[in-house]
Amino acid sequence: MNVAIVGAGPAGLYLAILLKRDNRRHRVTIYERNRLEDTFGFGVVFSDETLENVGEADPQTNEAMAEAAAHWEDIEIHYRGTVLRSTGHRFSGLERTTLLQLLARRAQTLGVTIHWQQQIRDLGDCGLSQADLIVAADGVASTLRERLAARFEPRLDWRHNRFVWLGTTRPFPAFTFYFKSSPAGLWRTHAYQYAPGRSTFIVEAREETWAASGLAEDDEAGTVAYLEQLFAEELQGHRLLANRSIWRRFPTVRNARWHWNNMVLLGDAAHTAHFSVGSGTKLAMEDAIALAAALRTGATVPAALSAYEAARRPQVESLQRAAQASLEWFEATERYHDTEPLQFAFNLLTRSLRITHDNLRVRDPALVTEVDRWFAEQAAVQSGRAVPLDPPPPPLFTPYKLRELVLPNRIVVSSMCQYRAEDGTPNDWHLVHLGSRAMGGAGLIMTEMTDVSREGRISPGCAGMYRPEHVSGWKRIVDFVHETSGAAIGLQLSHAGRKGSTCVLWEGEDQPLPEGNWPLIAPSAIPYLANSQVPREMTRADMDQVAEDFVRAAGMAEAAGFDLIELHLAHGYLLASFISPLTNRRADEYGGSFENRMRYPLEIVSRVRAAWPAAKPLSVRISAVDWAPGGMEAHDSVEVATMVVAAGADIVDVSAGQTIPDAKPIYGRQFQTPFSDRIRHEARVPTMTVGNISSAADVNTILAAGRADLVVLARAHLYDPYWTRHAAVELGYPMQWPPEYDTLNRYTPRVR
Ligand SMILES: Cc1cc2nc3c(=O)[nH]c(=O)nc-3n(C[C@H](O)[C@H](O)[C@H](O)COP(=O)(O)OP(=O)(O)OC[C@H]3O[C@@H](n4cnc5c(N)ncnc54)[C@H](O)[C@@H]3O)c2cc1C
Ligand SMILES: Cc1cc2nc3c(=O)[nH]c(=O)nc-3n(C[C@H](O)[C@H](O)[C@H](O)COP(=O)(O)O)c2cc1C
Repeated sequence: MNVAIVGAGPAGLYLAILLKRDNRRHRVTIYERNRLEDTFGFGVVFSDETLENVGEADPQTNEAMAEAAAHWEDIEIHYRGTVLRSTGHRFSGLERTTLLQLLARRAQTLGVTIHWQQQIRDLGDCGLSQADLIVAADGVASTLRERLAARFEPRLDWRHNRFVWLGTTRPFPAFTFYFKSSPAGLWRTHAYQYAPGRSTFIVEAREETWAASGLAEDDEAGTVAYLEQLFAEELQGHRLLANRSIWRRFPTVRNARWHWNNMVLLGDAAHTAHFSVGSGTKLAMEDAIALAAALRTGATVPAALSAYEAARRPQVESLQRAAQASLEWFEATERYHDTEPLQFAFNLLTRSLRITHDNLRVRDPALVTEVDRWFAEQAAVQSGRAVPLDPPPPPLFTPYKLRELVLPNRIVVSSMCQYRAEDGTPNDWHLVHLGSRAMGGAGLIMTEMTDVSREGRISPGCAGMYRPEHVSGWKRIVDFVHETSGAAIGLQLSHAGRKGSTCVLWEGEDQPLPEGNWPLIAPSAIPYLANSQVPREMTRADMDQVAEDFVRAAGMAEAAGFDLIELHLAHGYLLASFISPLTNRRADEYGGSFENRMRYPLEIVSRVRAAWPAAKPLSVRISAVDWAPGGMEAHDSVEVATMVVAAGADIVDVSAGQTIPDAKPIYGRQFQTPFSDRIRHEARVPTMTVGNISSAADVNTILAAGRADLVVLARAHLYDPYWTRHAAVELGYPMQWPPEYDTLNRYTPRVR
């Protein structure tokens, strides 16, 4: 096979090595525009695990890399005058020139031809088009990718922060993060040693901070002088070193396709991952391993390229998601400015979702115990309950207080419509459904969306709080929960608005009833689906009626003994549809501006608050974003949360979407938690987070990092009503089983 590779970076060089190892008769030629010694930047960092995995493909390279690398285990976080050290993170740093030199040497030994200082401007250059396989390993600004942009459809997401890649002679003993304030703003530094007496020193700041510093993009001397002064204490008399050190913005590169005919994109040309997860070189070299493996099968080149992309893409995208979370963390660090240093450090270490409370316990058990103890102390003060400190409970098993209600732990069973009621009346299904989840150990059980009027239902099967018998129906369930478990129970109150009068879920989600439809009301006369009933635009008299229905339902909730009310201002139902500009087109004082759109939902919050006992908490569920152009954005949700709390809510339950049918949510593990985190820190209100959370490790991480106060699980509780008890066993926390199940108490779980 005749292979032409453009770019002698880690991707191109390692691919050349592996192809030659596989078959010496392959003709492999690399075209590199620079000389070998011309590299930008200083060192790169790998986890030891990556080094081993990457090295396995070519043990000689592995040996050379391991020999040249500096190794360390600790991460140091310098924040607000404190230094927190976490151990057990095995990393290696390697000079980029050394890496490229050892790869180039190995490639040349194996018979790879490298043409240095040979820039490729087009596919016709240097007989490239005659090759059996053309590899574009020409980095983030890939010329070949741009020439064939119509085929690969590249998307470059230029991020907000500015960064500069510098070096220093100070040998940092640990991977070191500095967070340093100056009059211009907050500066973040990522520093690590890559050779004796040499460290990488990347400085990053918000665009505003960088602009306020007065530094120019490409004034290396000015940058070095400014930063040497700013970090004088940290540099301990050492100098900063520049090497094409200009202030850049990081582009996250994604491509719709990585291959076309006999050409493939490799490494940064295909995808980038933010430097804060230190994985660009790893990805580039792993690409080479995967591509060599696909070509080794003997398939035709186009077939091998398809197989390569199919196998490799999910792994890369998973790492890009982690990198995205990490880069967003560094873009939003100002948000955490008054967080306790210990929590700040835990938050930083767990930012990309790759390290959880559980993983960190394996790496650094002492730190996790310290975090848990700190969290338990806070919980004891907040709740007024004694919490053991030796050993401290996992964060999810700490109490939490809302007004006079003290929840025994931080797990909430999310509201889930059951469509089993008749004219709103709950029955045995609801008793068993909610009762078993209370027995399962969660701290708070939420009823399904329960409607304040018959016309306010989504479907004929929806639960309600509008007929006198609803009080006794719910009271039976509330009493069961109180008598048989330590859980509290909350009622979610709602009105379906334009999403009402539809079939039950399994007979046609959101579809109008075949017969017996009831009239709908909404802020504006916009149907949900094209074939949905067109709602009538609400008059002020309609608003008065619905407000009275909410107030009456709150009184009935008190009579039934509920501990908490949650008002449903999410998912496109009546109150949510006032808030979103996609569903509210009113011309009066209830439409138009954000304040106007909030007016009626806030009126409901205040009126229910006034009707609900002062000792009992009120929650409000919101959709933080609409996942649709022109709709609600994350920054709007900070305002919504601030306003609902000012109107009397005690906690904000942060969900998202379901406002319009063709929204484009970005799913993933904990996909809505960043909204809760943002609201909690920017609006400074208590939050619950919900959405694709299923493991105890994730719950503990969210809580300890301060991304929410309570964690809400929906489908995980359908799967396992005993989720909380099972988490206790898994975590070795001694949660008592009810006396009826006492035999289980004798198998006391291991306490850490
Ligand atoms: C600030 C910063 C810090 C980083 N830190 C780390 C880290 O700690 N760990 C890590 O793993 N990664 C890190 N990276 C990422 C890492 O540098 C890249 O992801 C990695 O080098 C990608 O390898 P590559 O071979 O795909 O591309 P590159 O290394 O960019 O190589 C591409 C090569 O192609 C050549 N080339 C480009 N165009 C042409 C052309 N038209 N003709 C001929 N030759 C051409 C270039 O000269 C270059 O040598 C960091 C990146 C930045 C910006
Ligand atoms: C069967 C089912 C019914 C639901 N009904 C409601 C509801 O009545 N009220 C509500 O606010 N959310 C409702 N949701 C959304 C969930 O409460 C939750 O926000 C969503 O499922 C994401 O959480 P999860 O990933 O843990 O399932 C429902 C979800 C499911 C799966």
